[in-house]
Amino acid sequence: MRRVIPDLSDDVDLLDAYAVPPRVDAPLVRVNMISSLDGAISVDGRSGALGGSADSRVFTALRSLADVILVGAGTVRAEGYGPARLDDADVQRRVARGQAPQPAIAVVSRAAAFDFATPFFTEAIATPVLVTTAARAASLAREAGSRADVLAVGADHVDLPLTVAALGDRGARSVLVEGGPGLNGDLARADAIDELCLTVSPRIVGGEGPRILAGPPIQPPIEPRVMHVLEEDGFLFVRMSLRR
Ligand SMILES: NC(=O)c1ccc[n+]([C@@H]2O[C@H](COP(=O)([O-])OP(=O)(O)OC[C@H]3O[C@@H](n4cnc5c(N)ncnc54)[C@H](OP(=O)(O)O)[C@@H]3O)[C@@H](O)[C@H]2O)c1
Repeated sequence: MRRVIPDLSDDVDLLDAYAVPPRVDAPLVRVNMISSLDGAISVDGRSGALGGSADSRVFTALRSLADVILVGAGTVRAEGYGPARLDDADVQRRVARGQAPQPAIAVVSRAAAFDFATPFFTEAIATPVLVTTAARAASLAREAGSRADVLAVGADHVDLPLTVAALGDRGARSVLVEGGPGLNGDLARADAIDELCLTVSPRIVGGEGPRILAGPPIQPPIEPRVMHVLEEDGFLFVRMSLRR
């Protein structure tokens, strides 16, 4: 992996390159997405065909630095999410940094229709967090029992800034958002994204698939500032600050 911006380096340490900057007021919210050169984020409804080994290393490095992974229920369904499983070396580094051994996965959902018999719940090391409305939270907590923690944020819609604050109250310093476009769009319109880590995959796939953000336009547009660009095998890894 080499760095091409802001300076040239032939052998980049991913954990250094993506180290979480210290913040005291709120957790860092970082979105990680992969897109084809022509802007598609999925092929046949999943992102796997866009990835490669370099992308998978960045994906894992970002997970290993995160306290919580935040993801929309649509992505959990489409990608068949299992529990987070970092290897022993990552676990040791996390524990040395004062983090939990594995990041918890928090799923945002209004409808909150979950199958608690799936490995996502039955094989989780860190208890999953289900983020939903106050209207749905009590019945969901009864359904989940000990298999998930339920967070009620907002009366009848999920309030995302409140979600980030609630994760901060639970001790999170860094929240890694893994999409999808519905959740990303809502977060961006709430000005709740600090960083976008965009992998530009060297593929042109055509089709009518969604982009990294869905929903109404963002006004005024966000004008990200590039923090770094890494490259391997034609994949570009662009880390950007989205703070206005
Ligand atoms: N290329 C990539 O890096 C990448 C990453 C992630 C996903 N994807 C792709 O994206 C596609 C999935 O897209 P999607 O739009 O369905 O993804 P999504 O944003 O993960 O899911 C949308 C669903 O998540 C819940 N949700 C999201 N935001 C919410 C909010 N603010 N309040 C309440 N609930 C919220 C809702 O679930 P309920 O319906 O349960 O209420 C909503 O229907 C898949 O094809 C996947 O492969 C690609």
